[in-house]
Amino acid sequence: MDQLIITGGHPLNGSIEIAGAKNATLPELCAALLAAEPVTLTNVPALQDVRTMLRLLENMGVNVTHGDDGCVVLNAQAVANLEAPYELVKTMRASILVLGPLLARFGRARVSLPGGCAIGSRPVDQHIKGLQAMGAHIEVAHGYIEARLSDGLTRLKGARITTDMVTVTGTENFMMAAVLADGETVLENAAQEPEITDLAEMLIAMGAEIEGHGTSRIRIHGVPALTGCLHQVVADRIEAGTFLCAVGATGGDVVLRHARGDHLDAVIEKLLEAGVEVMRETDGLRVKSPGAKALVAQSFRTTEYPGFPTDMQAQFMAMNVVAKGTSTVVETIFENRFMHVQELQRLGAHITVDGKTAVIQGGAALSGAHVMATDLRASASLVIAGLVSDGETAVERVYHLDRGYDRMEVKLRGVGARIERVRA
Ligand code: EPZ
Repeated sequence: MDQLIITGGHPLNGSIEIAGAKNATLPELCAALLAAEPVTLTNVPALQDVRTMLRLLENMGVNVTHGDDGCVVLNAQAVANLEAPYELVKTMRASILVLGPLLARFGRARVSLPGGCAIGSRPVDQHIKGLQAMGAHIEVAHGYIEARLSDGLTRLKGARITTDMVTVTGTENFMMAAVLADGETVLENAAQEPEITDLAEMLIAMGAEIEGHGTSRIRIHGVPALTGCLHQVVADRIEAGTFLCAVGATGGDVVLRHARGDHLDAVIEKLLEAGVEVMRETDGLRVKSPGAKALVAQSFRTTEYPGFPTDMQAQFMAMNVVAKGTSTVVETIFENRFMHVQELQRLGAHITVDGKTAVIQGGAALSGAHVMATDLRASASLVIAGLVSDGETAVERVYHLDRGYDRMEVKLRGVGARIERVRA
């Protein structure tokens, strides 16, 4: 398994290209199942999760042309296999996103239960509840979700759906199920993430009738069929936020090209309060920092968009570890998303955890060590900490990082970091 070897203490200067968003790409690849015509996506990031999703869709019979310029053409005209098998789903939970489109277009689906992951049990009960409200008959047996239309239905029917909590991929599954359903569907407590908005814009380009996307109430009016489309994937706000925190921690002056500041308000607000300068440029963001030692650590709690994103919690904590003062981080979305804490402690961080709350004593002088990545964003947190640790840090199990970041070490090296990938 690959390792990243980092020698800390170097500020970052220059510019970084921000890629297309992983969490918009994954549902948008699944949306191609809704049409019998080719769908073209551009600005698709080169990520392990994207390759996994493309393999899953090809396994179903989708014809995929994947250029290396970030352009992917998907043709779902001849889909024959309506199954998402365990061996693929177990490596990527987002496979659950084929459920809505398969039911909408074909009236049937067999999708392996995703199972838990490092950050929590992550059930899909809300996905099932909402699709049942739309007329799906769903049984869960032998680790699989067996879904078909209820007796007497020839297609899904519009419904009013209120989930027990806001769910991002749940909202996406319901939107993709509703665009071909009979009548109107209203999502009462929909997720508002920019990736939801981007998916809705793609579906509208395919002929769907959707309004309210980006707010907590989304209305979808079903249409008989959808066409193909050309859609550019929105920039990845979490990749951009990760690099904002990296520069905040190491110090320096970096332009993040294509970054969308309007998708990062909560994070930018906290960075400004910490003493980091973040400026909106015509096509991106510019971030300047004196380095974490000169910053003031910031307390925050993660909440649904537009609040502070849970996917930025670990990265901002890495900065707080070195910044001045005590800070409190509350993780309200997932029940086990502090796995980076014990690894940060190996580097010398002073953090105590009590349930959903972590208290960080800032001002730590970190020293390099061997640390182990446990999930995607925890890995990013360890890289940031390694960049400000004295000496050499080895981050192991880098495959977690590769799921959501396209060659992070290359981008960091391009702005002055001492970081190498070692194929172990
Ligand atoms: C999406 O996951 C993202 N993944 C996650 O990003 C992100 O952390 C999460 O949203 C929250 O923003 C993708 O978009 C592919 P949820 P998702 O359904 O949709 C509970 C990353 O690092 N819940 O919004 O799976 C759930 O357990 C990844 O890029 C149920 O109980 O998250 C969690 O506590 C990690 N039952 C909360 O709701 C359900 O049926 C929010 O989960 C669904 C969710």
